[in-house]
Order: sequence, then C-alpha cells, then structure tokens
Amino acid sequence: MAEGSAQKARIAILISGRGSNMIALADAVRGGSIPNAEVAIVISDQPNAAGLDQAKKRRLETLVIERRGRTREEHDRQIVAELRERKIDLVCLAGYMRVLSSEFINTYRGRILNIHPSLLPSFPGLNAQKQALDEGATISGCTVHYVDETLDGGPIIVQRDVPVHEGDTVESLSERILIEEHKLYPEAVKRVLEQIE
Ligand code: GAR
Repeated sequence: MAEGSAQKARIAILISGRGSNMIALADAVRGGSIPNAEVAIVISDQPNAAGLDQAKKRRLETLVIERRGRTREEHDRQIVAELRERKIDLVCLAGYMRVLSSEFINTYRGRILNIHPSLLPSFPGLNAQKQALDEGATISGCTVHYVDETLDGGPIIVQRDVPVHEGDTVESLSERILIEEHKLYPEAVKRVLEQIE
C-alpha cells in the first residue's frame, strides 16, 4: 500500500494459542509503527486459544474456524472465504500451527507471512528452540518469511540473532527469542506493506 493512500492495508492474523505475536502486531498497528494498516480479523483454529481473549480486549474482530474432521482443503476453503469477504491484503501467521493447503497459498501467494523461532533454514518445524539446544547451537534467533509449499522454507524477509546461553532451557531460550520476535514481526510487516502496491 502506497504511503498516503486512502485505503488501509487489511491484515488478517491467524493464531492457534497464546497469541503474543498477534498482540505485538496489533499493538504496532494501533501505535502507528505499522502505518496505514488495520487488523481486520483474528482467526483461530482452536476455540480455547488464549490469544482470542486478548484480541477481544483490543476490540478486534475474532473468528474460530475449527478443522472438525474436515480435510485441510475444506478447512482452508472456509478460512479463505472469510478472508475474501473482508478483502484481506496480508495474512500473518502468528503461532498458527497448521500447514496451509496449496489452494490457500496460491490465493494469497506473496501475501502470507510466518514467524519462526530459529534462524531458518536451521531448525524448521516443531520445537525449534529444543532443536537448537539439542544441536548445541551457540546462536539461534527468529525469522519472518513468506509462506510457500515448503515447511518453513519460503523466502526469508528478515532475521534476528539471539545468543544461546550456557545452561539455557527450552523455556529460557524461547523467552529470549520471543522478545525479539515481538520486535521483528512488526518491522517485517511494515516493510512488506511498503512493497505491496
Ligand atoms: C512463537 O514462538 C512462534 O515463533 C512459534 O510459536 C510461538 C507462538 O507464540 N511458531 C512456530 O514455531 C511456527 N513453526 P505466540 O502464540 O505467543 O505468538
């Protein structure tokens, strides 16, 4: 979205749990550090996701769309229909723990971002912080990348290093990385929106 354009970029945020990255994005939009944008919807595939309450407190529209025994494609079709209805420009995955169907990815190609708690391509998939500790990494970090059909393998937008300390546990490392995630994701979204016409 060009700066100064009357239309605000409409962001959808998909979550499955705590939603702290969703909050970081929503607060950055509200505080003006992601200019000319609005969070149009927060969607969770989990009805009990703690992030839903946080979103409601911020008066954001929320939707729960559970998979409920449907195929990935059927589930994603319902999500895409809701996104289309709201004329979403950018989809931000924020702790959304599902792989997207190709149909979803094709509909929003180049407009779906994800944040991951490692320096990709190292440690893709689940439990990235544990993978880093098990490997004996001395530096880990976080990555914001475009989502494509690969698992955490889409083009990287921005990364930030985080040191691994002696005696780190999964919890202590995750916490240190999360602090950087909350800064990095808004920066990445701002940068991407500047490039979207
Ligand atoms: C974050 O650390 C995010 O990077 C990670 O899940 C956490 C969600 O926290 N995502 C992945 O591991 C995706 N592969 P949040 O719900 O508080 O944002």
